[in-house]
Parts: sequence; C-alpha cells; structure tokens
Amino acid sequence: MVNNLERIKDSSLHSLVVGADEAALWIQDGMTLGLSGFTRAGDAKAVPFALVERGKNEKFKVNIFTGASLGSDLDKLLSEAGIINKRLPFQADATMRKNINNANHLFVDQHLSHTAEMIRSSVLPSIDFAIVEAVSITADGMIIPTTSVGNSLTFVSQAKNIIVEINMEHSELLEGLHDLYEPAEQGKREPIPLKKAEDRIGTIGIPFDSSKIKGIVFTNHKDSPSTIVPPDQETQEMANHLMEFLREEVKVGRLTKKLAPIQAGIGSVANAVLHGMIDSEFENLQVYSEVLQDSVFELMDAGKVNFASACSITLSAEKMEQVYGNLEKYRNQLVLRPQEITNHPEIIRRLGLIAINTALEFDIYGNVNSTHVSGTKMMNGIGGSGDFARNARIAIFVTKSTAKGGNISSVVPFASHVDHTEHDVDVVVTEQGYADLRGLAPRERAKLIIENCVHPMYKEQLRNYYEEALTRGGQTPHVLEKALSFHTNLAENGTMLEKVNSIV
Ligand code: COA
Repeated sequence: MVNNLERIKDSSLHSLVVGADEAALWIQDGMTLGLSGFTRAGDAKAVPFALVERGKNEKFKVNIFTGASLGSDLDKLLSEAGIINKRLPFQADATMRKNINNANHLFVDQHLSHTAEMIRSSVLPSIDFAIVEAVSITADGMIIPTTSVGNSLTFVSQAKNIIVEINMEHSELLEGLHDLYEPAEQGKREPIPLKKAEDRIGTIGIPFDSSKIKGIVFTNHKDSPSTIVPPDQETQEMANHLMEFLREEVKVGRLTKKLAPIQAGIGSVANAVLHGMIDSEFENLQVYSEVLQDSVFELMDAGKVNFASACSITLSAEKMEQVYGNLEKYRNQLVLRPQEITNHPEIIRRLGLIAINTALEFDIYGNVNSTHVSGTKMMNGIGGSGDFARNARIAIFVTKSTAKGGNISSVVPFASHVDHTEHDVDVVVTEQGYADLRGLAPRERAKLIIENCVHPMYKEQLRNYYEEALTRGGQTPHVLEKALSFHTNLAENGTMLEKVNSIV
C-alpha cells in the first residue's frame, strides 16, 4: 500500500492516518454511514470492504446512505454480509435487489436531490460517520473529492465523525474539477446563483471541521469501469426517433441547433442517443446531467459538446484510461457538483433542460413506471429521473416496446406502479416511434401512444382495451377490472399476449 503523506497538505492531520481495519472497528451496531459514491465512481472502498470482513464474524447492522449505486461490488458485498438495516437512496445490484425484494433489508427509493435536504433538516437519522473518498486534503482545510461528488458535501457537513479515504490511484489533476455549493437551510436560502451549465458557484473542495476527522485511510482501489452495451438495432432506432423529434423542434423554431442543456440517464439507450449526435447537425451542445458516460467524451472529442456538468464520471475501462490520462485536455470543459445541485428543480427549470430517461413501462395515457417490475419488485430505484422529468423543459422517456423476448409489452393499459405521472411526461419513445404528448388530452394521448409506440404484436390488444374503455366514458377512460389484465396474464401465462400461441 502506498502511503503518501504529501496528499495531506495540512500536516497537523498526519497523526490521524490509520488502517482501514482499525477505522472499521469504530463503527457500531445501529449507526448511520454516509458513503461517497455515485454510479460506480468515487466510492469509499477500503473501510466498507473492512466492514464487510468484520461482518463475517460479528453481528451488527448499519444504515448505508450514499449518492447512488456503489461500485467494486460493494452493494452486493454489504447486502450479502447481512450488515445493512436500511439502504438509500438508489442501488443497481442484482444481489441487493434480491435481498430488498425478499425483505432481508430495507430500501428507501428516493429522488436523488432529496437526500441532502432530508439529512440537513433531520428528517433522516443523523450521520454517525461520513466516509468519503478523496484525492487529497488541502492546506486550507478542504477535502478534494475524486470522480464523483454525490452527497459527500452534506455527509461531511452534517456527520458527527469523518473518515477520509485518500485514493492514490486518482490523479491530483482532479483538483479544480469540482464545484461545491451547499444551499442554506430552507426559509433562509438565497437563490442558487447558477445561471449557465458552466458557472462555478462554490469551492473546489469540501470544507470540513478538523475536530470531526476521526481518521484518514490510504487506499489504491480503482473505480469499477462501466460495462457499456454497444447500441443494438432497437436502441439505434430509438435514438433515430428521438433525433427526429429534436429535428422537428428545431424546424418549428422551439429549439436551435444548440438544442438546450441535455440530461441523459445511464444505460445503453442514453448512450446510443448521445452517440447518435456525433454525426448530426446539432452543435455547441451542453450537458447538464448526473452521470457522464463515454458518449459525452466522444462528443467532446468530436467538437460537438463544449461543456458538461454532472456529479459523477462513470466510464468504460478503455475510456477511463483515455480521459484520466488526458485530464488536461478535458478539465476546462467539465465540472463535478453535488447531486443536490445537478438535480435541483430551480436550476433544471432555469436552464430549461431536455431530460432523457428510461422507463420499464408506460401506459396508454403516459404514466411511467421506472422502478417496479409488475408493480411490486424493485428494479433499481427512481434515481434522478423524477428530479429531471418534473422540472425539465422537455421530459422524454424511452424504452423498448417489448421485453423478455416479446412476452412483456412495455406499453400497458395501466402502469402497475407510477413514478412519473402523465403530468410530468412530455414525450415517449420506443423503437416503433415517438409520441409527443405535450398539450394533448388523455384521449388524444392514448391514440397517439397506441399507434406510434406499441409493438405490432400488442397493438390490437391495446386498441381493443381502449375501445372498451371508451364505452365507459370519463376524462381518462378505463375498464378498471381489466386495467391490470396485461400483468395478470403475464403472472398466469408467462406472457402479456392474450393468446399464448401467438408469439412469433
Ligand atoms: N417488465 C419487466 N422487466 C422489464 C421491463 C418490463 N416492462 N422492461 C424491461 N425489463 C427488464 C429487461 O428485460 C432487462 O432485464 P435483464 O436485465 O434481465 O435483461 C432489464 O429490465 C433492464 O432493461 P433494459 O431494456 O436493458 O434497460 P436499462 O438497462 O436501460 O434499464 C431501467 C432500464 C428502467 C431499469 C433503468 O434505466 C433504471 O433503473 N431507471 C431508473 C433510474 C433512472 O432513470 N436513472 C437515471 C436518472 S439520471
């Protein structure tokens, strides 16, 4: 293990250096931990790993709060170790998902901009230990975060104790990339002075009270690379439909070729959409998002994106090498902020974002389910999709029209769980086409969604449902006793199709 005290520029803190195993011993049953980490980037690693080891011989449970999902298989390991009481605000791990759905531990699925606010106002349990990954500690008392900011600023400002993990794998060139700003308490708050994606409004590091620093741990665990799935035919088709929609917006004069700052969720579709912009006529683009994936850096290389603001950088192994090996090249075009700021309603509305997120399913009126499979089983969580959709200039949801080899239609009569109501959903896109729902009444929406977005296998079934619903009347017609018939069919017959044999 490399132990480089030069990264702790305030020498009065040198005596606080400890091993991860020793630091993990300070954590007691019932405590709440605020861990750095957002979508595999910048997570505290050494102390959580040591805590997992401790859990093999000792019975204890802690609450784990983070920015979003953790990398290095930490969500899996913490969940398997049986040491979690409650986890929030997001996760994306198969083992943890299973444990959540089997009620082995609790999970609170939260809008990602809400966690910091709830900690500051004591709605959530207070943070006993903030454990945050850092590049270094400055001489004037600031923790320089690494590849994500997430909720670290609030964890550090609110925690009773702080453990800093200095990760020697990260270059000191990351210093200067971050912009840390924490709003004052509600009722005493000024407007957040961020008017453009590239504005800097805070400090380059996380200020801290040195009396709260309990220990400093050195580590050299790398961030986990993302596993980018290359665009397939369907994601490419979705990207094409979305571009078609954006071109229409430019044609009618609501947008220019610069579009508006773009937020794109994680995953293959978002990546395909952004990738598709490389060869497009769009230019001088800006990104104001949560996570920066490979495609944003490809757009920068192609001269299409001139600035990107986010709270985390999550890259494939290959891209990591390229970006972190050439940080000088990208530094002036990047800023990393707390997720409270990247996802803040005030700023999203002010900048007028185009928000692109993924749905599991949506219904014929445009209500979107992003989290619960068949209305009950947690997938990952709402993440920032609600923060963005509720406040964006244009809230777009994308999904393939079918899942599981065609046995599931992603367009259903009635969403089995609603994360984004019809009021927050502007455009829905599948590989079949798009439906621009803005300004449409429910009956107009249903027709457009069924005709433009549904897979041909399910079109007739949905038309029949809607026609029967019309005979019942109402502003938003439904046949209530059949509203979940697609889902009950799936549970009983393994397919949403009415006739099992009709799958091609
Ligand atoms: N019912 C059941 N399962 C479904 C489904 C449906 N209607 N639609 C998709 N799935 C399954 C897929 O089959 C796939 O399963 P697999 O992992 O076993 O292959 C899985 O869900 C993921 O679907 P995929 O089409 O590969 O999309 P994705 O990887 O982009 O994930 C979400 C889609 C919705 C799960 C994901 O985007 C998410 O968690 N979103 C919510 C959080 C969010 O939006 N974050 C970004 C905000 S900034």
